[in-house]
Amino acid sequence: MTAQSVPAITGERPMPEIDTVVPNSAQIRNHRPSGKDDHPVDREARQAFRRLQHPLPEWRPGLRPTDAPQVNAIGGLAEIPGQRASPPGLTSSEVEVGDCRAYRPDDDRSLITMRAIQVREFGGPEVLEPVELPDPVPGPGQVVVDVAVTDVIYLDVMRRSGRAGPAAPALPYVPGRGGAGRVLAVGEGVDPAWVGRRVVARTDGGYAERLLAAEEEIVEVPDGLGLREAAAVLHDGGTAVGLFEATPAAAHDWVLVTAAAGGAAHLLVQLAGDAGARVVAAARGERKLAMLRGLGVAAVVDYSEPGWPDRVRAVTGGSGVDLVFDGAGGEYGRAAFDAVADGGRFVTYGSAGGGLAVIDPGLAARRNVAVHNPLFAGPPPDPATARARIARALELTAKGVLRPHIGAVHPLDQAAEAHRALEERRTLGRALLLVSG
Ligand SMILES: NC(=O)c1ccc[n+]([C@@H]2O[C@H](COP(=O)([O-])OP(=O)(O)OC[C@H]3O[C@@H](n4cnc5c(N)ncnc54)[C@H](OP(=O)(O)O)[C@@H]3O)[C@@H](O)[C@H]2O)c1
Repeated sequence: MTAQSVPAITGERPMPEIDTVVPNSAQIRNHRPSGKDDHPVDREARQAFRRLQHPLPEWRPGLRPTDAPQVNAIGGLAEIPGQRASPPGLTSSEVEVGDCRAYRPDDDRSLITMRAIQVREFGGPEVLEPVELPDPVPGPGQVVVDVAVTDVIYLDVMRRSGRAGPAAPALPYVPGRGGAGRVLAVGEGVDPAWVGRRVVARTDGGYAERLLAAEEEIVEVPDGLGLREAAAVLHDGGTAVGLFEATPAAAHDWVLVTAAAGGAAHLLVQLAGDAGARVVAAARGERKLAMLRGLGVAAVVDYSEPGWPDRVRAVTGGSGVDLVFDGAGGEYGRAAFDAVADGGRFVTYGSAGGGLAVIDPGLAARRNVAVHNPLFAGPPPDPATARARIARALELTAKGVLRPHIGAVHPLDQAAEAHRALEERRTLGRALLLVSG
């Protein structure tokens, strides 16, 4: 079961029966009987409980308090029988020593909830609704990631608004395509050494405190790299690395990048610059052009102004660019084709400007321009390739070759504002949702 397929918790749930009472046990109390209280102390206590949840063994009938620490949780109340002192990482205010109630293993664990964003119907940003959902439990081959931060990409906007075609999710769903955080728990068959490690996960359901991922969907974050930076390159970095590997630029090549201040595109600008290419960055408006100048490009062009492809050609001395990465699509992409030199290459991968750029094949053939559509030309990359690209993006970011521009960090429950900004073309680089921490 994925986090996105579970229903929001509504109404009263029956409380499980108390099986036994264990004296002198440590308790983490989270006074949240309604399941709706967002008090910071309660949230801290819930998080503390979750940190402890995995390493402790399941309760079993006949277990004595001295046998092993254990955790049972009912709604907002989590208890650790058998622990007299504060467990590591908890303050004394979060832990009480006293009698604990223990519950049977088949208790309804869905009473433990997490904050998430859910979409019940396609529409504008207002359909991004903060809800409480049952905590995910890892099945065989799966991990649960405690999400610290996640990225908001243009595909999220397309899916939410019902414009994602075959990539449309089934309703209701938790938006987002993954995130960065720590592995909280692993399912059967997964190496327990993952627990506690910092990872990015590329899977469904990123706008939530926790997400379920297959083991093959997670990649460890290199030491020294922040989780925000890791989240910022999770999709954009993997995409930029994949596009640049398939269609690399050489030193001194002229490379045009459109929608260049966007998430994936500003990393392509950096990869081309690192290869020694001369980059012309096209975007709309002075704010975005100023950001792109800061990336050390050879020239910037405002592509909302008429005749802009001529200005790109002029920058190259009249011949045109050797390579185009078109992340804008629509009329921007078609016009970008006018700026490519005969014998050059044109890569189309973006559609925010009104669909993927449509290039007349006869014209491309006459001008000997190779048109690549790598994201849609064949099946998506296999999991090993996708992981390798993300790992490469993380490595390049840790080394400082990629420097993601984090234009905004929104709290999780303001996901709607993050979407609004992206749709209104106000976002610089990549916007993130801060889930915890
Ligand atoms: N991010 C990825 O990993 C990834 C993967 C596969 C495909 N793609 C595709 O690549 C494109 C860029 O994705 P992204 O996530 O990196 O987005 P993004 O670039 O962060 O945001 C979209 C960009 O499109 C430009 N744009 C042009 N017309 C627009 C319009 N009508 N509405 C909104 N934006 C408009 C905006 O720049 P200006 O304001 O400067 O025009 C904006 O920077 C998208 O079409 C996406 O589907 C991205």
